[in-house]
Amino acid sequence: MHDLGIQDFLRHHIRTVPDWPAPGVQFRDITPLLQEPQVFRVLIDAFVHRYMGRALRPDLVAGLDARGFIIGAVVAYALGVGFVPIRKKGRLPFTTVAQTYELEYGSATMELHTDAVQAGDRVLLIDDLIATGGTMMAGRKLLEKLGAVVTEGAAIVDLPALGGSQRLRDTGLPVFTLVDFK
Ligand code: PRP
Ligand code: ADE
Repeated sequence: MHDLGIQDFLRHHIRTVPDWPAPGVQFRDITPLLQEPQVFRVLIDAFVHRYMGRALRPDLVAGLDARGFIIGAVVAYALGVGFVPIRKKGRLPFTTVAQTYELEYGSATMELHTDAVQAGDRVLLIDDLIATGGTMMAGRKLLEKLGAVVTEGAAIVDLPALGGSQRLRDTGLPVFTLVDFK
């Protein structure tokens, strides 16, 4: 977890929408983080500083549909590495591998192009938020089906009460997040 200064700064720009998209869900909306250029830069730089160094620099960034694309593509660009999208079922035109997973509110299937990564590629997996961890786990499985190594799972927000980040760590995946909502 980042130092408290940046965590509180970013938290201040995340909007909580109660009962969306379903009753009882406290939806953590990251769009205000993207709206102000100085805030967006602080956010992106927090990831770039972590992954620019030799030890953690990936060969590729993979982003999870849909909000993981916003962050992941910009981080990949700043790191000078390629970006691959992991998309919800039915969106990718070429041959794919698929993985079904459970969500905080429903279930879904993710797909990845079979030529998106090469065996042995070190891939940083990025999303906006970790709740149950199901989405990130599905993304990791897809990358591993193609022989890639997921070096870390990164997200802006962690919801630790839902246990996802801990579950991911328990499987051996390092997890890095910037803000948690208890
Ligand atoms: C949200 C969020 C993560 C996922 C986290 O995506 O952006 O991808 O849920 O939940 P989990 O840890 O329980 O899997 P959502 O499925 O709402 O899709 P969207 O990004 O297309 O809105
Ligand atoms: N994805 C799953 N749970 C979420 C939440 N509470 N807020 C935003 N995105 C989510």
